Amino acid sequence: MRITVIGTGYLGATHAACLAEIGFEVLGIDTDAAKVAALNAGVLPFHEPDLPGLLRKHTESGRLRFSTSMEEAANFADVHFLAVGTPQSGHAGRADMSQIDGAFRSLLGQISHDALIIGKSTVPVGTARRLASMARKLGPTGAEIQVAWNPEFLREGYAVQDTLRPDRLVFGTDQPGPLGVLRSVYAQAIAAGTPVVETDFETAELVKVAANAFLATKISFINAFSEITETAGGDISTLADAIGMDARIGRRFLNAGLGFGGGCLPKDIRALQARTQELGLDLTMDFLSAVDQVNLRRRDKVVELVEQTLGGSDISAKVAVLGASFKPESDDVRDSPALDVAARLDGLGYEVCVYDPIAQESARRRCPQLEYPDTMEEAVAGAEMVLLLTEWQQFRTLQPADLDSLVSGRRILDGRNVLDAATWLDAGWQLMQLGRKT
Ligand code: UGA
Repeated sequence: MRITVIGTGYLGATHAACLAEIGFEVLGIDTDAAKVAALNAGVLPFHEPDLPGLLRKHTESGRLRFSTSMEEAANFADVHFLAVGTPQSGHAGRADMSQIDGAFRSLLGQISHDALIIGKSTVPVGTARRLASMARKLGPTGAEIQVAWNPEFLREGYAVQDTLRPDRLVFGTDQPGPLGVLRSVYAQAIAAGTPVVETDFETAELVKVAANAFLATKISFINAFSEITETAGGDISTLADAIGMDARIGRRFLNAGLGFGGGCLPKDIRALQARTQELGLDLTMDFLSAVDQVNLRRRDKVVELVEQTLGGSDISAKVAVLGASFKPESDDVRDSPALDVAARLDGLGYEVCVYDPIAQESARRRCPQLEYPDTMEEAVAGAEMVLLLTEWQQFRTLQPADLDSLVSGRRILDGRNVLDAATWLDAGWQLMQLGRKT
């Protein structure tokens, strides 16, 4: 079977390479000619473990190639995955649907025979049904264009593994026809035991949004308790361990700290707020808004702690920020809590030096006003305060002796609760951790 993947961002590039790995002939489509040229040369424009190898292997074998031509896409295959972005728009957090609508219309305009268009992007509920009706109105005469929704649950840093061996597959359709095609596309994962949920369009769209909203809620729940322990006393990590021992709750995604960021959780929760408001569900919207607000308050808290700690001293004091990406194992700085805090401190007049093992360049492009030395040692040299904001392995294992002779002030704020408090306190450092009374 030949398959196209339209949109070659994080999701599309991973999906295309994994489909080639499964054995399909794949054509990836993108409007960005520079990205298409890079991908055809086997060069991945972002950091993702395991993906560069798959990309090189299959672009070299000829099983995977990329193009900017939608006409080529329509002629190449009759199964098309739609994986373009749905970024946050300027309108009250609503999802910007221009790429979805643009790509869908453009493909429809080129197709002349029966085809199946499978949406993978995260979209507001109601999109698949709207596109299916658009296909009936604008599709070629004499040909049937079917639509299905098959949301993606991959995590950055584990994209290949999550795509080839997902926890579950969700197929949303309004007629049985596409189910056979979807089952053959994913035959390997299904044979390996991946459960399949076959459902309607709306449920499929909402499963994706609900999964991300639930993860965001879990993080904000523990961070709301951090606000309580910071005021009333108590230890947030022990509390998370203890409630996580209840199998109904589970320990994962209960790491208190600076909160969630990235290209998905914050955007999806805001798009869902906007959609619930459109549906007249204001009270549901309030619930989601609280999750977002708790998350953003963690960033305020870190800025406040820096100001309290360095308050009175020279406002131009040097602050070293360790970590710029929104999470470890990624160079993605979209809505990164670490970079947001760094930029706010710079705005307040501090000298901010950022060091991230992988995300230096993407951070520099997003926040060019900050300093990005080549090494961690240079970043912390002469700093009055060190902030650990993204828990890369090399920061989790930091010891006071690594920094003692470099810093000006022995003050460290552990924004991800990964340092052993006794070690730092015994070495004479002032240690601040979120979720503990300071
Ligand atoms: C998230 C979901 O986990 C994926 O299932 C989903 O497919 C993806 O969004 C998407 O919609 O495409 P991702 O954005 O890669 O994946 O990142 P996560 O691993 O979920 O982490 C999100 C944020 O939560 C990070 O900033 C992380 O630092 C933070 N986090 C995570 C916490 O603050 N505490 C935790 O306990 C866990």
